[in-house]
Amino acid sequence: LTLPERSLTAVADFIKSGKARRIVVMTGAGISTAAGIPDFRSPTTGLYANLSALNLPEPEAVFDLSFFRQNPQPFYVLARELYPGARYRPTVSHAFLALLARRGLLHMLFTQNIDCLERAAGVPAEKIVEAHGSFASQRCVDCKGEFDGEVMRAFVARGEVPRCGRVRVKGGEDGGGREDGEGEVCGGLVKPDIVFFGEALPRAFFESSGMTKEADLILVMGTSLQVHPFAGLPNMAEEETPRVLFNLEQVGSFGTRADDVMVLGDCDAGVRKLAEELGWKDELEKSWRE
Ligand code: OAD
Repeated sequence: LTLPERSLTAVADFIKSGKARRIVVMTGAGISTAAGIPDFRSPTTGLYANLSALNLPEPEAVFDLSFFRQNPQPFYVLARELYPGARYRPTVSHAFLALLARRGLLHMLFTQNIDCLERAAGVPAEKIVEAHGSFASQRCVDCKGEFDGEVMRAFVARGEVPRCGRVRVKGGEDGGGREDGEGEVCGGLVKPDIVFFGEALPRAFFESSGMTKEADLILVMGTSLQVHPFAGLPNMAEEETPRVLFNLEQVGSFGTRADDVMVLGDCDAGVRKLAEELGWKDELEKSWRE
């Protein structure tokens, strides 16, 4: 056993002892609900429970690549809601992750979120694996050509579907890339670089997932652990590595290992409690308010 008991105090003592120098964190939509962004699967407030107006065959279709190719409009209705911008502020949980990074304890943060709030809170980009991509860039689903960010923002704000304006040179070998001269306009659908069902995760996810094995401590926050391969990450940790869950409900395989600690409830509240035990409370509140 690594922890003397399954409690937050034991986790705090473990961190204070200096033995948790490489903390690996896995997050999901639950860490952003306090910012006003709905999660996906919560029974009444989640996005999937509120998509009936869009007439989808099933809620997940909104993030399904083959459905998107047939009918991109529902995704763009949602994109308007979810698009990052000044509207949403990082939560206490995000501020805690930035604090871990500042103290040199954050080995890697794996997030499923596409809201970019980890970066906004000050977690350095090289400490973040955006496992499901983000709204930071976008490209054509056909020719894969990149699409301008400002033009994208305007389309999303209007709830309109952007299409690729690249010109394919007639008879040319290259499938696009030129925007001058004569030829056919590509016209393919433009999609943000967020990972849809039916698409591979970014290479960074697979290149970094081994860091889970190097962890001294695992923190899992605000995710239902329902979507693979991300959901498999906490199980990749070594058996003797303590795993802490901050979530409204028990998820995944939490509770099956001797050093699993579950802090069930609001993750901001759980994180505040941990910060208090660590003597970091003032620093946390101050950095969150800034
Ligand atoms: P889910 O909506 O599936 O799960 C959110 C989890 O956070 C649930 O277990 C909630 O109970 C919990 N939760 C909500 N609010 C909380 C709070 N304030 N404090 C603590 N826990 C809270 O979201 P994800 O697990 O992130 O994929 O979903 C995974 C993927 O499914 C997403 O990345 C998305 C979706 O399809 C894509 O967009 C590609």
